[in-house]
Amino acid sequence: MSYDRSVSADSHELSPETVWHIDMPEIRFGRDATDELAFQLRDLGVEGTATGLVITDEGVADAGHADRVVAHLKDAGLGADLYDKSEREPSISAIEDCLSFVREQTDNGYDFYVGLGGGSCMDTAKATRAIIANGGSPLDYISEPTGDGQSLTESGPPLVLLPTTAGTGAEISPVAILSVPEKEIKEAISSNHVRADAAVLDPTLTTTLPPELTARTAMDALGHAIEGYTTHEHDSLLRASDPAERPVYAGRTQLTEMFSEKAIRLLSGSARTAVHNGDDLDAREDMLLGALFGAISGLTAGASLCHAMAYPVGNKYHTYHGETIAVLTPASTIDYNSASDPARFARVAEIFGVDTAGMTNREAANALKQAYIQLQQDLNVLPSGLTELAGITEEDIDWLAQQTVDTQERLLRCNPRPVTKEDVADVFRDTLHNWED
Ligand SMILES: [Fe+2]
Repeated sequence: MSYDRSVSADSHELSPETVWHIDMPEIRFGRDATDELAFQLRDLGVEGTATGLVITDEGVADAGHADRVVAHLKDAGLGADLYDKSEREPSISAIEDCLSFVREQTDNGYDFYVGLGGGSCMDTAKATRAIIANGGSPLDYISEPTGDGQSLTESGPPLVLLPTTAGTGAEISPVAILSVPEKEIKEAISSNHVRADAAVLDPTLTTTLPPELTARTAMDALGHAIEGYTTHEHDSLLRASDPAERPVYAGRTQLTEMFSEKAIRLLSGSARTAVHNGDDLDAREDMLLGALFGAISGLTAGASLCHAMAYPVGNKYHTYHGETIAVLTPASTIDYNSASDPARFARVAEIFGVDTAGMTNREAANALKQAYIQLQQDLNVLPSGLTELAGITEEDIDWLAQQTVDTQERLLRCNPRPVTKEDVADVFRDTLHNWED
């Protein structure tokens, strides 16, 4: 394959950013950390017999996790209502349903909120808490032209998130992603006021996750870790004249690199066991920790080309995000981007467990791609490429590439190697079949 065209693209602006910072919720991690949820809420200022809302979905409720959380809160003297109607990839109307529930049950909203589930449940909880606190509707806070682009000014009462999957990073991120089905796009309410106050990560909540979901979320987490490790350095961008203007995806730092390295090791080392033996708590703990570390890196340093390409695919074909990331990673994050810094990708190969002795950096990067594809095959539940994923063929590539460059500038700007539309099309072409079905 050839990606020669990229050499004609504009290079990144080079001027000296010297400062980085990181915002995080409080983080509580470990087996049965759920039993410390009430303590966490009290620590955040929840007093007396305050009543909160636990926001989840039917699947998580059926698994018994919602009952566990509600019983725990009641044992601690707190009130707890349950909303279990969260939707996968919540639409604006799904958020409005949750807002209506809150407004019917309370005069001014609940005293605290708990989001329990995968990224969709957590994003529903984040959006609901923020909009109840600031008033209005989701569209008021979605950027133009879809929404009004108003700024959130209030965070509202405490929000604690408990992930039941290991992958999305929604428990620490400052965005709530909402789908707009009639436009086949996703939009986000993005603000530090959306970020949760605390994340409680309990591997015992993840053992009920079936193999397919375990594999998909693992590949999303691995994507965050590798993309975060290989994105541009924070000091390769312009220094923000106003600290408030510093981009959310600010580039990699020594802190994010440290988290990426550990995340890649944990996730690549334990994914097979977590998928094939879901009750293995050691593996589940590794995956939850790896996903958290991947998010700390990828969601602050910045995701890149792979995530940019994943959004148009997900919007049009309604594929699962993690599955899409899994299919796109070999050609985008690894193959295309490794030319930006072969030594760095050789290092990823080593961390991934590849024996790179005697290899050149480019050979090691190529071995990383093979090892990554081997991992996907071993998980046994992931599609071989875009064609198997959603019936995508050569005819669909031009539209997907155009959508990527038209709508994903924020992510493409972070890519360590410049990209043109033709480059994106070439990469899409390479993802149709990662291996023979
Ligand atoms: Fe992701």
